Amino acid sequence: MDETGDKKNPVTAAVGEQDITSAVAIAGHPLHAMSVHFPIALVMATLGADIFYWWSADPFWIRAGLWSAGFAFASGVVAGVAGTAELLLVSGIRARVASWTHAIAAMMLLSVAGANWGLRLADETAVLPHGLMLSGLAAVLTGLAGWHGGKLIFHHGVGLMVSAKD
Ligand code: HEM
Repeated sequence: MDETGDKKNPVTAAVGEQDITSAVAIAGHPLHAMSVHFPIALVMATLGADIFYWWSADPFWIRAGLWSAGFAFASGVVAGVAGTAELLLVSGIRARVASWTHAIAAMMLLSVAGANWGLRLADETAVLPHGLMLSGLAAVLTGLAGWHGGKLIFHHGVGLMVSAKD
């Protein structure tokens, strides 16, 4: 049984009746779901750049890591703004514990992603070991946030905009 499907429990039944349709969308396409791919890919790319630098000592990977860390943070903030708007505006999203779990994991990710970029801006050579450690932590937090985001969509059916088939 899913967490909101217990119709005998009046609290979960009341949660199940609330609206879960995306409030931040363009022509039926939710903005948060559209934007999360960028921070996910760029966090992983930063980790990849750091590992290649560790392996090859080629300074190209320092510059690649600096840019990907910056865009991971910036695109994460953009995705976070859309996600926060969904969380605050849609009552059925606000009412679900899974939404807040995802939001906390995502905020931790954004903090680490910001620190990872700031570290490199202040000192490009800080990639080894601190940049690499932050990149590893950001990758783990991305997995955690992404997992809970997917749970919201695929278990709770949150943020969907299902149009009529006819
Ligand atoms: C920082 C505050 C954030 C909040 C409050 C938030 C909130 C939400 C909400 C409410 C949903 C359900 C779908 C919707 O209503 O659009 C969702 C889905 C999702 N979120 Fe976030 N989010 C945040 C940041 C992020 C970040 C930075 C990432 C990237 C790692 C992320 C990854 C995801 C994923 C992968 C989904 C599932 C989307 C899909 O499969 O289409 N979220 N988020």
